[in-house]
Amino acid sequence: MAVTWCVAAPSWCQMRTNRSPPHAKSLLRKLMPIDCSNTAHLVMVGKAGRRFVRIWHYEATGLSHHDEISLRMRILQLSKMRARRCPSLALPTIIREVVITNGVKKMDLGIAGKWALVCGASKGLGFGCAQALVREGVNVLVVARGAELLQESVQRLAAQATAGASVLSVAADITTVEGRSAAFALRADFDIVVTKAGGPPPGDFRDWDRTAWIKALDANMLTPIELIKATVDGMAARGYGRIVNITSSAVKAPIDILGLSNGARSGLTGFVAGVARSKLAGQGVTLNNLLPGPFDTDRLKATMQGAAQKSGQTLEAVMSARRKTIPAQRFGNVEEFGAICAFLCSQQAGFINGQNVLADGGAYPGTF
Ligand SMILES: NC(=O)c1ccc[n+]([C@@H]2O[C@H](COP(=O)([O-])OP(=O)(O)OC[C@H]3O[C@@H](n4cnc5c(N)ncnc54)[C@H](OP(=O)(O)O)[C@@H]3O)[C@@H](O)[C@H]2O)c1
Repeated sequence: MAVTWCVAAPSWCQMRTNRSPPHAKSLLRKLMPIDCSNTAHLVMVGKAGRRFVRIWHYEATGLSHHDEISLRMRILQLSKMRARRCPSLALPTIIREVVITNGVKKMDLGIAGKWALVCGASKGLGFGCAQALVREGVNVLVVARGAELLQESVQRLAAQATAGASVLSVAADITTVEGRSAAFALRADFDIVVTKAGGPPPGDFRDWDRTAWIKALDANMLTPIELIKATVDGMAARGYGRIVNITSSAVKAPIDILGLSNGARSGLTGFVAGVARSKLAGQGVTLNNLLPGPFDTDRLKATMQGAAQKSGQTLEAVMSARRKTIPAQRFGNVEEFGAICAFLCSQQAGFINGQNVLADGGAYPGTF
């Protein structure tokens, strides 16, 4: 894993050395007792107030997941501290972390400063969406039931937030009235809402009674509808709104044992199709569904673990066989899922409305 960041230094640094601002580098070394390959090079000359400054671009590569998080936290702390201490750039100053994906600087999605409610966001696909949004400078309110993991994810998100984006959280069950009230008590107006809750369990439809169906409908159909109901009119009044429902590829290609999911999510899909074509469309509000195929999350691993136990194979054997069924020959990752979500929330995606966007590595066999 890699982290990149910028350091700005006034011209005198350049007079001492042609390579990099020495103070900034030693400062970072002190604060970063991390074993990684670390490179720095001058990328541009800019202006801070009346001063000309040189901006160096640093990159730390070969980091473990844990080191990546702690380095991001340190960069965030340091950039805040240095900005307070030397606003006029009298000293080398860490500007901020730069998000670079596969060596390509990301597109500006024009949503910095907006507010997003992201449900089911302490890990997995919801976390991926929240992460992509905070990197765009979107303020987020993240919801999940488990408080401890949620707090950890808030820290990880805050470490990646650009343009001073805020990260708030509510530990609540979003499928309950109380859970939704707790989220809206913190903030009522959102420009972006990403809906998601846990998927219903697999099984045989003969075993599902009314209670099982109501639970599935509540989590995967009625909860997103309630969240849409609570937010779209405010979005329309402000002239900008994005709803992204995380559903499933099973909406397009049903899986027999996931009848509860197929049914409840198809219900939501039908509802969204109608609302997306209502008056809201002319008021800057779009509603789309994002359909994940197999993504590498804890949920996928738990499903594969179940299959491994049933068949007596190892987890790796089951995962490898599953990968081979996907034309991309791999599972999706939450970063790429989050990036699709952020794009659907962007200014640029204003003309994409009422769609079911499938991300499954080509697994869906149909032409349309
Ligand atoms: N991963 C895939 O390949 C895949 C494919 C198709 C569809 N999906 C669907 O996508 C959704 C997310 O899957 P995932 O892979 O991201 O799962 P995951 O890694 O298990 O993450 C689920 C997240 O949602 C939160 N959550 C679950 N129920 C909640 C509730 N009632 N209220 C608030 N937060 C809740 C969890 O935190 P807490 O448990 O602490 O609340 C966690 O943060 C599921 O509905 C799943 O069926 C996933």
